Amino acid sequence: MRIYDIIHKKRHSQSLSKEEIDFFVKEYTKGNIPDYQASALCMAICCNGMTDEECFNLTDSMMHSGDIIDLSSLPYTADKHSTGGVGDLTSLIVTPILATLGLSVAKMSGRGLGHTGGTIDKLESIPGFRTSLSAEEFMEQVKRIGLCVIGQTENLAPADKKLYALRDVTATIDSIPLIASSIMSKKLAAGTHNIVLDVKYGSGAFISDPDEAVKLANTMVKIGRMMGKNVCAVVTSMAYPLGRKIGNSLEIIEATEILRCEDRGDARTVSVELASILLSITKGIDMEEAVRLVNDSLDSGKAYRKFLEWIEAQGGDSVLVDKGELCIADFTLEVEAEKDGYIYNADTEGIGMASCILGAGRTVKEEQPDLSAGLILNVSLGDKVKKGQSIAKLFSSSPEKLIPASEKLKASIMISEHRPETLPPLIYKKIF
Ligand code: URA
Repeated sequence: MRIYDIIHKKRHSQSLSKEEIDFFVKEYTKGNIPDYQASALCMAICCNGMTDEECFNLTDSMMHSGDIIDLSSLPYTADKHSTGGVGDLTSLIVTPILATLGLSVAKMSGRGLGHTGGTIDKLESIPGFRTSLSAEEFMEQVKRIGLCVIGQTENLAPADKKLYALRDVTATIDSIPLIASSIMSKKLAAGTHNIVLDVKYGSGAFISDPDEAVKLANTMVKIGRMMGKNVCAVVTSMAYPLGRKIGNSLEIIEATEILRCEDRGDARTVSVELASILLSITKGIDMEEAVRLVNDSLDSGKAYRKFLEWIEAQGGDSVLVDKGELCIADFTLEVEAEKDGYIYNADTEGIGMASCILGAGRTVKEEQPDLSAGLILNVSLGDKVKKGQSIAKLFSSSPEKLIPASEKLKASIMISEHRPETLPPLIYKKIF
């Protein structure tokens, strides 16, 4: 078998066999296929697509390129996955809720890259919190408290790790078969049986068009079900950041506010939806009952107590979190509206980049972000604003970063004399 022939076939829109896909994944992971040929194949897939069968086979090959975690000793394993966004803190809310309702949340999460945040960076803003545990510690904690979140292990879908890094620099990220197989290979290797996917659309997501996001969601659900897993998806808006606080320690603070029911905004709405769907499919109860149980977990304070127990179990300082005393960067700047009008539109990716400029994100994988940096948005889409009114407050440990970040933020929030006629739906579609 020759990689040249496989590229040539896909270049001419022909379907690849399971053997050809396996050959490519195995030989590329071993280093026997050079990056230029792998990137040519990725580009051909971007341009010509893949059938459901090819997509399933690509996921299967990548999933089996490394360890497959065995969670069969745990009851009701459940996981949620977001395709990534800005101010997207739902994992911090959904996981403790589910742990109070008898589900086993044994979760591997990622770090932020580019304009998107990552759960592991957020958790590491809590002093002492350990995101790297042995397999024994991981399983023991899930059995004891129903919940553990760690960083992805080195050998989880290594083929995807290598391919993702290549796609990132060859403009081959935004392809439905490549995104679907990349995400599902990791989720399936991580061993959970019940999965809800939060597929984002809008200016802060990989895919801006909601109907394309639905296609991605359908593809991932189909792959998961072909693998015998219980998978559902929700397509939700990233036309504006989900939470109002963006940055690592700031998002932990916002999570405590939501878990204490002090904040009942969009992030709570999406979290309740995701948790309810996952509870419903995992325990086989109807959606109405699942919503009631999830809201009760929040309103009774059980989910918040579980959140603090979880922090403590992983070595974090839960007292500091409870008191709202996490470290926030010292240098601040209020960003003011430059004219009267309405918040008409936003470039959510740009808002995420403003947070990165402040130090909260990384532009290359090796960079260590400033976990205390970020921004708080004081306005939402459709809000009326007056010239001079604060639209956001910026936080950075480096004062020279404040002005460039404020320029980026101002360029990302469009103020118009017209009120937007409609707002993008927060929950666009559910795929049950
Ligand atoms: N997240 C992933 O893990 N892979 C992709 O291809 C896109 C987002």
